[in-house]
Amino acid sequence: MKVIGILTSGGDAPGMNPAIRAVVRTALANGLRVKGIRNGYDGLMKGDIYEMNVSSVADIIHKGGTILGTARSLEFKELEGRKRGAQILRDYGIEGLIVIGGDGSFKGAKGLSDLGINTIAIPGTIDNDMNYTDYTIGFFTAIETVIDAIGKLRDTSSSHGRAIVIEVMGRNCGDIALYAGLAGGAESIIVPEHEFSMDEIITKVERGKKRGKLHHLITLAEGVGNPYKIAEELEEKTGVETKVTVLGHVQRGGTPAAPDRLLGTTMGARAVELLLEGKTNLAIGYSNGKLIEEDIEVAIQEKSKFKEELYELANNLSQ
Ligand code: F6P
Repeated sequence: MKVIGILTSGGDAPGMNPAIRAVVRTALANGLRVKGIRNGYDGLMKGDIYEMNVSSVADIIHKGGTILGTARSLEFKELEGRKRGAQILRDYGIEGLIVIGGDGSFKGAKGLSDLGINTIAIPGTIDNDMNYTDYTIGFFTAIETVIDAIGKLRDTSSSHGRAIVIEVMGRNCGDIALYAGLAGGAESIIVPEHEFSMDEIITKVERGKKRGKLHHLITLAEGVGNPYKIAEELEEKTGVETKVTVLGHVQRGGTPAAPDRLLGTTMGARAVELLLEGKTNLAIGYSNGKLIEEDIEVAIQEKSKFKEELYELANNLSQ
């Protein structure tokens, strides 16, 4: 193998840049050439491909987003599109490919592997929605962003004696709401994996009110319920004024936190080693304190398992 390619795909995640840096520099150190593919599979279909060198990845380890850009490609979802993509890779002499992204990106990676392109996938998404790995790149930075917001909202919530519903991202996974809620000391956490009861939330607010508690913070995973309706009902039933903050895409940016830089860096280097070993169709993960590899098909089969014990803990601590 002489030439490898790298692309980032799907939603960006802080820590993708450290991963790109590690891929490029590990590859160059091993005598490989590296082609950067801009804007994910969409850029691949357009042949938006350039030669990368040591300087291409200088000064990016601390930057959020992805220097390669990212996009979603409808054409690539179809077999014909993937066949054309594989041919473009061959035309550029690219024999191995590293894909950084979420489960949609992993499906594309598997498709290319099936077409004879050695492909390794790295999990880059703030959602932490993959079961085979304990953490995905970007998750911890998103948590830091949410905790920072919770701290600020706690100040104003306490000053006014208000409740605040904080909607966070996560697609179909409640991990951002759960981890940030636990680490930020939220009173209630609403996630897709666990049925929620408005009555319990109301009881908690009323109990808090009785003992002179001034703030009440609820983290809500996107898609589980309408934050404005939840706030309206809470205010109506408890008499506590309730505001809504939707954090949105602010959670996707920012300088990558230490765990995301470390995950990105170690996974990026490992991906190159796997290509050099002639491996394909593998997803790199992190489990029980070390890097692991899983068949991409298995990696995308199950959504992440809900951490029931963390949910119970948060519930017990938020009296
Ligand atoms: O997958 C990451 C994620 O940020 C989800 O949490 C969110 O639902 C989605 O992407 C938003 O995607 P878009 O970039 O299309 O707004």
